[in-house]
Amino acid sequence: MSNRNYEQRIKNLLDSMTLAEKVGQLNQVGPSVVGAFEIPVEELQKKLLDGEITMDEIAKMLAASKPDYREDDIRAGKIGSMGGVAKRETAMQLQRIAVEESRLGIPLIFGYDVIHGFRTGTPIPLAESCAWEPELWRKTARMAAKEAAYAGVNMTFAPMVDVSRDARWGRVAESAGEDTLLNAHYGAAKVRGFQGEDPTAPDSIAACAKHFAAYGFAEGGRDYNRVEMSEQQLREDVLPPFKACIDAGVLAVMPSFNDINGVPSSVNTWLLRDILRSEWGFKGTTVSDANAIEECIAHGVCADKTDAAKAAIEAGMDIDMNSCSFADNLEELVSNGSIDIRILDEAVKNVLRVKFELGLFENPYGVLDEDKQPFLKPEYRALAREAAQKSIVLLKNENILPLAKDKRIGVVGELAANASEMTGTWALSTLGEDCVSLVDGLSQRKADYVYYENAEQAISDDIDTVLLCVGEGKDESGEAASKARIELSEEQLSDFRKLKAAGKKIVVILFNGRPLAIPELKENADAIIEAWHLGVEAGNALADIIYGDVMPTGKLTVSFPNASGECPCYYSKRNTGRPAGGFKFTSKYLDIPSKPVYPFGYGLSYTEYEYSDISVERTAGSFKVSAVVRNVGAVAGVETVQCYFSDPVARRTRPIKKLVSYAKIQLAPGEAKRVAFEIPFAQLGYYDEKMRYIIEQGKFIFHIGKNSEDVISAEAVL
Ligand code: GLC
Repeated sequence: MSNRNYEQRIKNLLDSMTLAEKVGQLNQVGPSVVGAFEIPVEELQKKLLDGEITMDEIAKMLAASKPDYREDDIRAGKIGSMGGVAKRETAMQLQRIAVEESRLGIPLIFGYDVIHGFRTGTPIPLAESCAWEPELWRKTARMAAKEAAYAGVNMTFAPMVDVSRDARWGRVAESAGEDTLLNAHYGAAKVRGFQGEDPTAPDSIAACAKHFAAYGFAEGGRDYNRVEMSEQQLREDVLPPFKACIDAGVLAVMPSFNDINGVPSSVNTWLLRDILRSEWGFKGTTVSDANAIEECIAHGVCADKTDAAKAAIEAGMDIDMNSCSFADNLEELVSNGSIDIRILDEAVKNVLRVKFELGLFENPYGVLDEDKQPFLKPEYRALAREAAQKSIVLLKNENILPLAKDKRIGVVGELAANASEMTGTWALSTLGEDCVSLVDGLSQRKADYVYYENAEQAISDDIDTVLLCVGEGKDESGEAASKARIELSEEQLSDFRKLKAAGKKIVVILFNGRPLAIPELKENADAIIEAWHLGVEAGNALADIIYGDVMPTGKLTVSFPNASGECPCYYSKRNTGRPAGGFKFTSKYLDIPSKPVYPFGYGLSYTEYEYSDISVERTAGSFKVSAVVRNVGAVAGVETVQCYFSDPVARRTRPIKKLVSYAKIQLAPGEAKRVAFEIPFAQLGYYDEKMRYIIEQGKFIFHIGKNSEDVISAEAVL
């Protein structure tokens, strides 16, 4: 939020509004599709559920239909914001109706999921988080905002800052991984990028921190499932990224679909009023997830839409996305005294405040139309390529990478050639035809390669080195894409085994939206590159790394489990009373190792680094922790140095390690630098059984290292 004061203007406008107009401001809908079908939508839904019709058939009907943008409802002041409109001409036309033809001329918010790029698709958030670079995260959001604003969008439903520790959950793809600090830095950087220095600027769009809260802790990793969690864990692991977004000035927050300890976030007063408003002083607006208010009926906490509308607005929900629970019920509920008009006014003021903060009353039409090439500018592609390069993680390299530029190689697997898979999940405006596949990237640099759809074709040729492309398509992660099995498919493993049996040198390229269980690849591949879904410049960035034009620098922000059964798998676990060890009666699985295949923070380079000489000094209010990092290889590199701490004795069990800081440093061959971290005592605390945040006297252990396992440590006493 800016420090501008719009309160008097908000009050004047509110005082002039009718009850119906107030309710209208809380109603967010998308283009009506009712007209697209010969039968009522309810009947259509039933046919879909009964398998009489498929989503593809529905999509075809929609594509063939002319959406109804509800102009009459806009004109009548019944709609405050629209979702799903990301076409300039349409948005401008609807905005003109709102501003020039409605009684009060209140402009619309146009919300859209600009999650990782708009037309210039950038790496999925889980990939980009592996860059460990807030300035990069901000820059790519700024670029996305410019493109989206041109298309008429003035609010994005991002950043998603759900700490995600269960690889079975498909939406881990949209997060910054398993660590609280990284999600906080990622979220704050994205807010600054989307909203810019000045949210009223035509190319700034409102950010929306989501999904508030604990959505990533769905039981069993099954999307939308229940969450049972102590308040301590909520406050220590889950809430800080949202608080970081609010401190960065985020204008909106989206409550999550899930319940927390039985109370769905959409009707959770403790979450939406006590925490968000009273504790944190949030002044922006809350916007429900799609249809989430009505879904409180299915949750079993509301009897009907009237009940859900009352529960949601009283809990602190301002905008109802798509369910029309507010539009259909709030006027009556206020008129018959079931809801205090002040509750409604508060919600309307929050929405109007965001519209003022966005400058929509002064400039409802956003960017001017002079930009003849608003999308995919060369500098946008360059940034997308940089982000993709920095998102790539080198997991294994048995002296085979980088490849010699003239080496003839085989490229195996359809993911290598399928550009549209590179967009990743939640890439609503990124076109597959704009994406560079790995094969495209190899062609563009005139690499000497032969492409094979599968291993069978590759075995007989006398090419000794192959790039085997395996993993997931873009629709295998994201929303409603939970998996019980996170191993590679039998077909992909079979391809790997055939190539291995044929004596090929295998560089595995993983395209995926979640950690995969790949113990066999770790054991038997000659190299493994984690390539996620990298966006429009995927193939070029991969080729840059494979041929050594660019150094791999990415570090994992999620642990890679040995097997599906190991989920949730994360570094900041508890020691337990019987930490895993050789003795039978310890906390472990009989059939897999006790360490992940690849740990949080892990990533190799084409050079090597050595860590030494860690020291801890106590200063007035912090510990200064430092160590020497030396590049002991033959080429220059960039290393992400990580700093963790442990609290070996506390009133409650503490994580065996917790990330407190990190730094990316450049080192020439042979060069050494002392890297220092200032750790305020406040970062070392935790919530006790009475929910007091305490920083205890006593011993702490600090660790500095190249990942969450490979560290050097030193003790200190507070
Ligand atoms: C979806 C998602 C949310 C998204 C919203 C609008 O169901 O949960 O992340 O922003 O609907 O598309």
